[in-house]
Amino acid sequence: MNMSKKILIANWKSHKTASEAQDWLTTFAKKHQTFIEEMDHCQVIIAPSFLYLEAVIKVCDNLSGVSVAAQDVSHFPLGSYTGAVAARQLASLGVSHALVGHSERRKYFGETHSLVAQKIEQLIEAKITPIVCVDEQEIQQQAELITKQQASNCIIAYEPASAIGSGMGQDLPQVHKAIDIAKKAFGDVPVLYGGSVDERNIHEYLLVADGALVGGSSLDVELFIQLISATNSKP
Ligand code: PGA
Repeated sequence: MNMSKKILIANWKSHKTASEAQDWLTTFAKKHQTFIEEMDHCQVIIAPSFLYLEAVIKVCDNLSGVSVAAQDVSHFPLGSYTGAVAARQLASLGVSHALVGHSERRKYFGETHSLVAQKIEQLIEAKITPIVCVDEQEIQQQAELITKQQASNCIIAYEPASAIGSGMGQDLPQVHKAIDIAKKAFGDVPVLYGGSVDERNIHEYLLVADGALVGGSSLDVELFIQLISATNSKP
């Protein structure tokens, strides 16, 4: 993994209708040339709903430096698991990354560390990079349930649940400390910060993190492009 490039992920969660997603993409593709230089410093990953993956991939295939992530994956392989989306199905569409263990999945869908570990295994087998989301107290336990080899294929997103969607990002020293803990637990892999990242605070988070996982501020395409520009500018 290229650690010198910052990784910026747009996590759309369950937002956007099909036409809203299309509008975002059309503007993003149109403006791509205006931030092409920033792409030397930044890898962008867009994580839409499963439903829009194909449409997003079709557009992003023509945009250098932009890839596509699923927001989740089944812990089962291909098979008789009604309603589930298997890692190999995602890979066959051209999905390169997938979020796992997001705090909303843990909170609202009861996902456990061991379920998240099974998802990581499925993704790695399908050659998709897992983006493993953890709060501070989850770092150690989550890391203990995967092998060092698996960990070396992951991107970690440190996301304090209290900061997500609150408009109040966590204080920098605390973020710095948690990122150090995550690097010790998972190895020398990219560790991103997520939780109320916006155009005012992104510069400071990028001083200590290898990138950002962005929810609310990724929904408006113009705002998200501002965040991309921030990877290549001083505050
Ligand atoms: P937020 O969400 O940027 O809206 O806080 C981040 C996330 O949940 O990934």
